[in-house]
Amino acid sequence: MGSDHSSSKPRLVIVSNRLPLSVEQKNDIFEVTQSSGGLVSALRGLKAADYVWLGWPGVAVNEGDMEIVDTALAKENAAAIYLDDGLAKDHYNGFSNAILWPILHYQSGVVMNPDAWEAYRRVNELFADRVIQEARDGDLIWVHDYHLFLLPQMLRDRLHVQKKRCLIGFSLHTPFPVDDFWRGLPVQEDLLRGILGSDVIGFHTDEYRKNFVTACDILLDSVQLKDDQIQINDRIVKTGKYVVGIDYERFATAISDDKVKSRIKELESLYKGKTVIIGVDRMDYTKGLPEKMEGFRVFLDEHPELSDKVILIQIAVPSREDVKKYQDLEGEVSKRVGQIIGKHASPHSTPLLYIHRSVSFEDLTALYSISDVCLLTSRRDGMNLVASEFVACQKVRHGVLVLSEFTGAASFLNTGSILCNPSSAEGVSAALYRAVTMGQEERRKNYEELRDFVTTHTRLDIFLC
Ligand code: UDP
Ligand code: G6P
Repeated sequence: MGSDHSSSKPRLVIVSNRLPLSVEQKNDIFEVTQSSGGLVSALRGLKAADYVWLGWPGVAVNEGDMEIVDTALAKENAAAIYLDDGLAKDHYNGFSNAILWPILHYQSGVVMNPDAWEAYRRVNELFADRVIQEARDGDLIWVHDYHLFLLPQMLRDRLHVQKKRCLIGFSLHTPFPVDDFWRGLPVQEDLLRGILGSDVIGFHTDEYRKNFVTACDILLDSVQLKDDQIQINDRIVKTGKYVVGIDYERFATAISDDKVKSRIKELESLYKGKTVIIGVDRMDYTKGLPEKMEGFRVFLDEHPELSDKVILIQIAVPSREDVKKYQDLEGEVSKRVGQIIGKHASPHSTPLLYIHRSVSFEDLTALYSISDVCLLTSRRDGMNLVASEFVACQKVRHGVLVLSEFTGAASFLNTGSILCNPSSAEGVSAALYRAVTMGQEERRKNYEELRDFVTTHTRLDIFLC
């Protein structure tokens, strides 16, 4: 890990709750695995020498084991910010995922929890203390996501005391909702002030950016707006739209890898004569999995002749399993999956394959590549990188993207995809029918539109402004 303060070259110090590696303890042994989720995927394209990445390792680690974990993480330019288990849970599950996440995704009826809020503040402070040790004069500090809304201002205060000059960037990887949802949160003012400690704040779409600026304007005294800038006291904070993309080459070249090629061959022979529809989502209520199942059920009811000619392969990556809402969702999705298979499967075939696990990169890219349609029905989604990953693997097949209009990706990939509203099962069914019956020439044209976007938006460059 780059804690050598003797070199004067400014670095990028990335800070996020989730590290690119997750640490898990299994029978007294620590296993280090790749983390899932869009934030990690979005930053994967960074070159190893460019940065240091600080975050929570995802598990409580005894002092005696910290060295082993530190060594494993250092290989990925990462360093752990260790947190006590109870504090980490209250911060991650209690406030970030049970309160902030639903509000940011336009949900109402969220109940404030003062203890979880206290844990959230405390964890942001612990992050600030650790990051300030790491940051050298001139470094760029890049803070990510809703778990760390208070961090930019805490860092600014500490940098001031230590007389270090570092630019602070903040990127939000979720939507930012319209004011009605945001103002429901009693601590919204503290959070806005925390984020405004940044020099530049990045959003995935202009809609989220405008919602944030409007919230600052309405809810904070002492701010003034000028175009995309917010003046707070004597400082100017820039806000911007920074489109997050994928490491296109990593996906586009994966399908030429020998291991992936042989997986593609196996899967093509297994699904010969079938139209394959792929879905890849974290098991999260924002991803609209019940809505997807409902849309697919209506599709099969309306087109029973297709039930042995199509197969939906749905990967649902386990996520935040300590939060009740996520546990309930798993039960609901399993039930709907069972109902569809129960009604439409035959001794020879099933129209639905459900995988409630994460899959390897090789399997993921092989599945993207052999699919004719990618079906994504998020109720709300900051961006959705799966949409771009699918396109990157479709050089040969020119598959069709069916995309919820409520994803950030829909504002960029609308030409070339079929947009749908996940609340209408009939609408999802109609979009799916259009996709599975689309002619090759239209598929090619659409693919080219999508590819042009995906190949030209491959990084998140908040500091190049
Ligand atoms: N993904 C993963 N493991 C899997 C399946 C998918 O890590 O088994 C990745 C996928 O490739 C994508 C990310 O998880 O890069 C999901 O990102 P997205 O922006 O679509 O949604 P998020 O999970 O961030 O809400
Ligand atoms: C979204 C969030 C990320 C988060 C990811 C996975 O993409 O914006 O901050 O890392 O989901 O969720 P998790 O709770 O597993 O970190």
